[in-house]
Amino acid sequence: MKSLPYFCRGEVIRGFGRGSKELGIPTANFPDSVVEHLPADISTGIYYGWACVGSGDIYKMVMSIGWNPYYKNTKKSMETHVIHTFKEDFYGEILSVVMVGYIRPERSYDSLEALISAINSDIEEAKVKLDQPEHLKLKTDNFFSSAPHSPPPSTTAAPSIMNGH
Ligand SMILES: Cc1cc2nc3c(=O)[nH]c(=O)nc-3n(C[C@H](O)[C@H](O)[C@H](O)COP(=O)(O)O)c2cc1C
Repeated sequence: MKSLPYFCRGEVIRGFGRGSKELGIPTANFPDSVVEHLPADISTGIYYGWACVGSGDIYKMVMSIGWNPYYKNTKKSMETHVIHTFKEDFYGEILSVVMVGYIRPERSYDSLEALISAINSDIEEAKVKLDQPEHLKLKTDNFFSSAPHSPPPSTTAAPSIMNGH
């Protein structure tokens, strides 16, 4: 995928809330404006990379892009699981991410347990892959030091989007 690494940021909006409640794996959803800006060669599927909330620390992340076939969603979403335990939700904050690699396509599973176990192996794979020097480099990219300190005013029509690859 020639668009990788792909940098983007946007406000965290509410999804269906299943990530925390049903899966025990919370995800931060991007608004439609960010999903619609994805380059054509970034297919649906599971990705790994780096993420930061507001101007906070940079953590490893995994992201699912698509329609969540297990749940048969009708709207395409971009859902990031930041590999860190946060004390509180961060809805309304600005999430900055760089997607650096692709793991697998999205698929449906026979059970919730099977979906959870697939996501947990994605997380383990991401942790190992991101320790490679070419991926660690992106953690210190200027994109993250330019992360906004607070969310944009609610009057802002669209969150800032940036593709700095
Ligand atoms: C790393 C990762 C892998 C995922 N893989 C799949 C998948 O293969 N199939 C699927 O239906 N959903 C997949 N999901 C999406 C979850 O089903 C989704 O995040 C969950 O339903 C929470 O959605 P919500 O925030 O809208 O409630 C994945 C999510 C993550 C973070």
